[in-house]
Formats: sequence, structure tokens, C-alpha cells
Amino acid sequence: MQTFTLTRPDDWHLHLRDGAALAAVLPHTARQFARAIVMPNLRPPVTTVELAEAYRRRILAALPANSGFEPLMTLYLTDNTAPGEITLAQSSGRVHAVKYYPAGATTNSDSGVTRLERCFPVLEAMEQADLPLLLHGEVTDPEVDVFDREKVFIDTVLPQITQRFAGLRVVLEHVTTREAVQYVTAAPANIAATVTAHHLLMNRNAMFQGGIRAHHYCLPLLKREAHRRALLQAATGGNPKFFLGSDSAPHSRRDKEAPCGHAGIYTAHAAIEFYAEAFEAAGALDKFEAFASFHGADFYRLPRNSEKITLRRESWQVQSSLALGDDELVPLRAGERLAWRLQ
Ligand code: NCD
Ligand code: ZN
Repeated sequence: MQTFTLTRPDDWHLHLRDGAALAAVLPHTARQFARAIVMPNLRPPVTTVELAEAYRRRILAALPANSGFEPLMTLYLTDNTAPGEITLAQSSGRVHAVKYYPAGATTNSDSGVTRLERCFPVLEAMEQADLPLLLHGEVTDPEVDVFDREKVFIDTVLPQITQRFAGLRVVLEHVTTREAVQYVTAAPANIAATVTAHHLLMNRNAMFQGGIRAHHYCLPLLKREAHRRALLQAATGGNPKFFLGSDSAPHSRRDKEAPCGHAGIYTAHAAIEFYAEAFEAAGALDKFEAFASFHGADFYRLPRNSEKITLRRESWQVQSSLALGDDELVPLRAGERLAWRLQ
């Protein structure tokens, strides 16, 4: 196959940042995707509908001319989020989900939730309003091994949410383990998951390939090969609970290559190509369009896109770095060649 045409996809989990970084990364996403669920972990976080509306306007202002890209906004859940904010979110029509970060779990998560029970009134309001909850599904207990934090979250925290709020739509974001795949597969239809390209393409060896590889460090961490295979099977299996969410997370080279480097892998420069590579390697390109372009829209109850995009089999080299404000960004596979190219 020399070309592959599919309905224009959406990215259901994306970090766009703000200011100069936003301007640098947004065109990459906008050329491939029609819409994206935009993560609210700015500094300070996007905790209210008013802040989300203002952030949305900054994103629209940073878009290249004639881009039809639509940012779908999210709220950052804190211990103090008022249930009334959910009513505002629902009536705004701009806010499509609320993001739960356990406090301290990842980049810019210090304002996240410290105790789940504090959020019960808000979760109840979300269930009523039918507003999806997006989970960074990792516990933060320093006693728990970093590779087990997703599994322990699934065993201990997730059931508290899904049992108490049985009607709440939940997306377990960036799943990385077989246990997550099993949980989501067995759960009712209102529980879904996003899968990143990097977790489909790499296992944890990639973090230590020839030395410590800061640009392969993200959260949740890359896991063992057996887990990568389970994710690939889930993504390519045609199950509508699994859909595309790149978790493309730009950080400057300075922040990544530091003694205490930041978590996040940048994939927006070639997101759809990375996913195509993973699906092709699994012999499942026939399942690609549904994963990339249908399942997420259906889950979020938004219309599927009507435009098409085409990928061509053409070897091209990823730039060794990209400008990011006064620093630079090292994209995934910097300087290496990819097999598929978006036309
Ligand atoms: C994300 C970021 O940089 O904002 N980092 C990451 O490793 N994925 C935050 C997140 O989604 O955990
Ligand atoms: Zn993320």
C-alpha cells in the first residue's frame, strides 16, 4: 500500500501549553487533527470555565490562518472545585471534560486532588451533567514502585469512582499496562481509555538505550514489552473503548536534559505517522481509522469529521530539534527517518 486515506482524526489528549510554546507547537497538531482535548495543566491551572474560555481564545489566536482546528477545553479538578462550576461548564458548550490529577503525579499537578472524597460533590454534579472525567491514573504514594503506580490506581482508586458514580463517563488517559486494558475492556461502555503512540511503539528499554534517555521519559512511564503488546492489541482490536490520545507534551531541551528532567514526550510533529507505523507493524491498518477518527468522537458524543487526510509511504527525516520560544524542543525520533508522511 502506497497511500492510506482516512477521515481526519482528532487527538483526545494533548498538551498545548501557552505563550511562545503554544505558538510553536499548535501548527503541528492543527495540520493533522480536526479537534483536540486540551489538557488544563498550565501554571496556574485552568480551573474555571472563565479561564478555559480565555485559554481557548489564546489558542484560536495562535492558530495558522485558515485552520479549521477546534480546541476542546477541559477543567483542572482541585480539592476546591465547586459543583456550580460544572453547571457553568455544561452550559458553556466549550468545556468537554474535567481532568483529575492526583496531586504531585506529573508535570504541573501540584494543585491536583489530595483526597478523592473531597471531590465527591463535583463528581456527582458531573455524573448529572454527563460531563466526562479524565483520569491521570497513577497513585503518588512514594512507597509504591514507579512502574506499578497505574496498576495500584486501578486496584485502589478507580473502583471507588466507578462504583460510586456508575453513570459517570470516565476516560483512563494514556493507559500503559495490561491491567488497564483488562479493566477498561471488562468495564461498562461508559469507561474508555486513550492510548499514546509512544506507548504503542516503545517499551521501557527505550529509556536506557545506550545510556539514560531523557527524551523517552514520560508519565506514566514506558512499561515492559508484554504491556506494550497488550496496548497494541487493545488499540488495534476494533473495540470502541480505545481511542487516540497522543499526550504530546512539549518541554524545552533545558528542562528535559536537566539533573531532574521533566516528564513528557513530544510527538505532535508526526503523531498520525507514529500511530500509522504502530498499526502497520501490527498488521492492523484496517482498524486504524476507527481508532483515530471514530471511537473518540463517538465517546464524547461529537459528530465524526467529514474531511479526509492521506498518508503516503515516503521516507522523511524528522528535524533534530524544533524552536520553542527562547529554547528548543527535541521531538520523538529526532534526526531519524519515518516511513509514512502526511500529505
Ligand atoms: C505531561 C506534561 O508534560 O504536561 N507529561 C507526561 O509525561 N505525560 C503530563 C501528563 O500527562 O502526565
Ligand atoms: Zn498528558
